[in-house]
Amino acid sequence: MALRIADSVYWVGAVDWNLRFCGSYTTPLGTSYNAYLLVDRKTVLVDTVKGTHTMEMVGRIKSVVDPAKIDYFIVNHAELDHAGAFKEVLRIAPNAEIICSDRGRDSLKGHFDFDRELTIVKTGDELNIGKRNLVFIEARMLHWPDNMMTYIKEDHILFSNDPFGQHLATSQRFVDELDEKFVMDHAARYYAQIVMPYSQLVLKKLEEVKSLNVPIDMICPAHGLIWRKNPEKILSAYERWAKGEAEDRAVIYFDTMWGSTDLMAREIAKGLTDSGVPVTVYNTRTSEWSLMARDLLLSKIVLVGSATLNMTMMPSVAGILAFFKSLRPPPKIASAFGSFGWGGGAVRDIISTLKEMKFNVIEPGLQFKWVPREDQLRECYEFGKQIAQKI
Ligand SMILES: Cc1cc2nc3c(=O)[nH]c(=O)nc-3n(C[C@H](O)[C@H](O)[C@H](O)COP(=O)(O)O)c2cc1C
Ligand SMILES: [Fe+2]
Ligand SMILES: [Fe+2]
Repeated sequence: MALRIADSVYWVGAVDWNLRFCGSYTTPLGTSYNAYLLVDRKTVLVDTVKGTHTMEMVGRIKSVVDPAKIDYFIVNHAELDHAGAFKEVLRIAPNAEIICSDRGRDSLKGHFDFDRELTIVKTGDELNIGKRNLVFIEARMLHWPDNMMTYIKEDHILFSNDPFGQHLATSQRFVDELDEKFVMDHAARYYAQIVMPYSQLVLKKLEEVKSLNVPIDMICPAHGLIWRKNPEKILSAYERWAKGEAEDRAVIYFDTMWGSTDLMAREIAKGLTDSGVPVTVYNTRTSEWSLMARDLLLSKIVLVGSATLNMTMMPSVAGILAFFKSLRPPPKIASAFGSFGWGGGAVRDIISTLKEMKFNVIEPGLQFKWVPREDQLRECYEFGKQIAQKI
C-alpha cells in the first residue's frame, strides 16, 4: 500500500532491508528508495526506486491511481537507486511528460535506451498541477551533475532526492517516529560518505535557499526517513558539517600484523582519554566504513597508525586513506604512528598523505622498532596527551 504522507502526497517507494553496499559505500542497516506520488488535477511521480524493487513501487502506485494516468514523471536524479524503474514507468505511463534537469538529459541518455521527449527545467521554473505549483531547484553536484530538487509551493514540501537522506531500512517513514539521535547519526554517516566532498556547494545551496525566503515544512529525501517536524534540524546539521565544525574528540585508525601498532594505538587512546578528549579506535581491516567516515567528519583529531609492510603502510590503511582523501574532509589536527622492523616507511607515507589532505599535521609522528617497551608505551601515552592539548 502507498502511505499518505501529506494532503495528496503519497510515499510509493520501497524498503531494501538487506542492502549492505549502495554503490561504493556501506549501508549496515539497509536503505529505502523513496518515490513519491502527487495527486492533484494532474498526477505526478517524483523519482522511482532501484530496479530490484520496481514491482513493489508499481504496486504502491496502483493502490492510489492507474499508472496510465500519470501526467508528469519527475526525475530528480538518474542514479540507478532512484531511476532503476525508469523504463518500467515509461511503459506503464505512456503519456507521462518526463521532466529532468539539463544535466539529467545526459545521465538519463547514458543509462537508458529510450526515444521519448524530455522536458528540461532549470532553477525557478514552475509547473502547475492543479491547486498546487511545483518549483524546480537544480542542485548540481549534490552529488551528481544532474541532481535537482522539487518543491511544492503551497504545502512547503521539498523533495530533495539524495541530500538530507540516511541509509536506513525501517518500517517507519518519519524521523519523529524514531529516536532523533539515531537518525541524525545515520544522516551524519550519509553526509560523510556521499555529501562531504561537495561541502562548499552545500553552503552555497543553503544560502540560495535562504535567500529565496521560502518556508520548508517537510523534507522528503530519496533515502531513509522524512523530516516532518523541525526540518531545520537537518538543515542546520548540514550547515555545521559543511562548515567543517567538528566535535572535541579524536579518532584513531590503524592496522597491525603482530599487535605492536595496536599496543601503541591503545596507549595513545589512553593519553587522549585521560586528557578529557573522547576517542574512538578502529582497526581499519575489520571496521565498518560508514562508522569510520562518520568519525572523520565529526572529530577534530585524526590519528592514523600502521605497521610497516614492504616499506609502506598496510593495504587496509592505504585503502581507507584513499577513500578519506577522496571525501575532501575539512582540515583536522592529524598525525601518524606505527611499529616497524628495519627501514620503516609506513609513518612517513601516512604523514605525506595527511599533508596532501591539507591537514594540520604534527610531525614527525611516532614510530618504534619491533615491539614497544614499557618506556616507549609511556611515550605513546604522552603523545596522546600532547595531541589532546592541540584542541
Ligand atoms: C611481510 C612483512 C613485511 C615487512 N616489511 C617491512 C619493511 O619493508 N620495512 C620494515 O621496516 N619492516 C617491515 N616488516 C616488519 C614489521 O614492520 C615489524 O614486524 C613490526 O614490528 C610489525 O608491527 P605490528 O606488530 O604492529 O604488525 C615487515 C613484516 C612482515 C611480516
Ligand atoms: Fe545518488
Ligand atoms: Fe541515492
